[in-house]
Amino acid sequence: MNPSRRCLITAACLGTCPAMARGEPLAAGEAGREGAVEIDVSALAEGELRVTQWKSQPVWILRRSPQMLEQLQAPDLLSRLADPASALEPEGRTPAYARNAHRSIKPEFFVGLAVCPHAGCVPVARLKPGPNPGRPDNWPGGFACQCHFATFDLAGRVFRDKPTDRNIEVPRHTYLAPTTIVIGRDGNAG
Ligand code: FES
Repeated sequence: MNPSRRCLITAACLGTCPAMARGEPLAAGEAGREGAVEIDVSALAEGELRVTQWKSQPVWILRRSPQMLEQLQAPDLLSRLADPASALEPEGRTPAYARNAHRSIKPEFFVGLAVCPHAGCVPVARLKPGPNPGRPDNWPGGFACQCHFATFDLAGRVFRDKPTDRNIEVPRHTYLAPTTIVIGRDGNAG
């Protein structure tokens, strides 16, 4: 496949996502006009991924366990990432509040656009570390794009020597309550 051709988010791509679920559109007010969606993540267990939608695009919400968060700082992992500090990302691509070690407002909740920065396919979740289908034994857990094999860690940071050096985009979002996220609107840092 020509990598310059953008892979549209087709039904086939979305079929790689587990349990697509829509957030609740905010019916009125400023957030509603911006197409923001409100997501209650109180039932999300540690280590669990939810896939929701915002502006017809899939969005991951991953509730990371303490072990997952510890893994994000492992020197062996950091040395294998193309842009571990999100330093190469263009202005506006990742909000300032997600340019940190965990790429999120709250460390435990990662919110990322489930769209590969290379050509727009939807990567699949391979969250557990170690051997996974198509992954090496030293796989730290993360996401794998099946189009041209870019891989990302549990903060959406891309591994080195892949078809893209861009991390997964973090959409603007904020918290209405400790476990209520609004995607599509900036706010306080939660
Ligand atoms: Fe090419 Fe993901 S779309 S690696």
